[in-house]
Amino acid sequence: MSFSKGFLWGTSISAAQAEGGWDEGGKSPVQVDYANVGSASSSGRQLIYKKEDGLKGTLTGAYAMFPHLPDNGQYASFDDVYYSNRKASDFYHHYKEDIALMAEMGFTTFNTTISWARIFPNGVKGGINQDGVEFYRDVFTELRKYNIDPVITLYKYDEPVYFEQTYGGWTNRTMIDEFLEFAKVCFSEYKDLVNKWMTFNEINVLLLFKNLPHTSEEAQIRFQELHNQLVASARAVQLAHQINPQNKVGCMIAGTCTYPLTPDPVDVMDNYKYFQDIFCYSTDTMIRGRYPSFAKRLWEEEGVKLEIEEQDFIDLENGTVEFLGFSYYMSQCRTTHTDGVASQGNIFTGFENPYLKKSEWGWQIDPLGLKYFMHYIYDRYSIPLLIIENGLGAIDKVEEDGSIHDDYRIDYLRSHIQAMKEAVEEGVNLMGYTTWGGIDLVSASTGQIEKRYGMIYVDANDKGEGTYKRLRKDSFYWYKKCIQSNGEDLD
Ligand code: BG6
Repeated sequence: MSFSKGFLWGTSISAAQAEGGWDEGGKSPVQVDYANVGSASSSGRQLIYKKEDGLKGTLTGAYAMFPHLPDNGQYASFDDVYYSNRKASDFYHHYKEDIALMAEMGFTTFNTTISWARIFPNGVKGGINQDGVEFYRDVFTELRKYNIDPVITLYKYDEPVYFEQTYGGWTNRTMIDEFLEFAKVCFSEYKDLVNKWMTFNEINVLLLFKNLPHTSEEAQIRFQELHNQLVASARAVQLAHQINPQNKVGCMIAGTCTYPLTPDPVDVMDNYKYFQDIFCYSTDTMIRGRYPSFAKRLWEEEGVKLEIEEQDFIDLENGTVEFLGFSYYMSQCRTTHTDGVASQGNIFTGFENPYLKKSEWGWQIDPLGLKYFMHYIYDRYSIPLLIIENGLGAIDKVEEDGSIHDDYRIDYLRSHIQAMKEAVEEGVNLMGYTTWGGIDLVSASTGQIEKRYGMIYVDANDKGEGTYKRLRKDSFYWYKKCIQSNGEDLD
């Protein structure tokens, strides 16, 4: 047997992409509640705001995901825009049914996030929203009823608008204190229900701007935001252990598996440097407790001068994580030569690999890359890994009898589970595996629900039309069999 007894099997979703109920139960809006649906042919969606003259202004790409509205821009709703995160998969009203379906598949874990805007809609000053606290207590109690041991993430792509309006967002160190209060409520209220936590989802995506033309002011903002989040995370780790010594806390990083496109040593060096900058800058800091030696080179290259307080160094040192959670969807190539073909991806872009096939959204499918990446990072850190996101976004067709034959998704999952199994057999310590978006949800990069990742179909389209009824796809039955056999039966 390759996977240990107690190996965690499940799926991962997020509050902003699945819950909906954007203005219910006392929740305040989050930035992504103002983003539209991108067209199926392009990956981008826009964050739409009101300009000083009352007209629409838009932010795209990285700027839409972690927005700072230009001067006097306001968060406002326009009647002709459909805001897909506001209802999302309506998990807020369907969670009992969804959890029952997860239990039917035999899940032993489930990852979701807690919406900060449900717990503190208007920051610490505004007080705790008890309805929000009770909502998550109900969700976690429901999970425990079925012996599902949750792994909960505190923050994922859903900054409450209040914080940007009041403090200007994560560049302001007040956010560290606000986050700590939020973390304290979560660790205390759910002490008896949750003991596996992750602080920030894909914390390294703040470096996304590096793929785009940018100024040193932009770099300064993003590196400072990342620093403040790294410190907030390290303090939260310490707090989690004080509140419950049984708590295990991990980091969560966007897995960036890249290969040099050519054997040119310049490409090989460039590729390694990319791994250092985009992945290890965050993981080294969270796992080893200090910025890596190459950080100085990176700050100099970007013209960044970080504001770091003495206490930050102590907190980073004392707040190291116990496991490394990461997402993996694809690999990409990097090259310094001009003959590469640009590849598609949700977060980081690169070049196409001629040996790989692509998904409908142009994401390159590379199961062996998962195995390679697991070895690569386990060799570096030697702490347990947790694959927290992996899956295939595709258009599904519902047959007349309600069945959904998503063999492409089964193929994707099978090949990736097979690859991770080999890595485990070869010595990698892997705690568990959660697919991404086991219940269809809103895509982060396009805003579409029709780009589906689920094993559970949600009857809704990109205009928000539909019954939101849940249906079992073929992959539902396949994953159930896989879990029942602890990953042995992948047929
Ligand atoms: C991950 C994000 O990197 O990619 C998820 O953490 C996201 O939030 C997932 O949904 C898949 O990307 P997309 O753009 O297809 O939703």
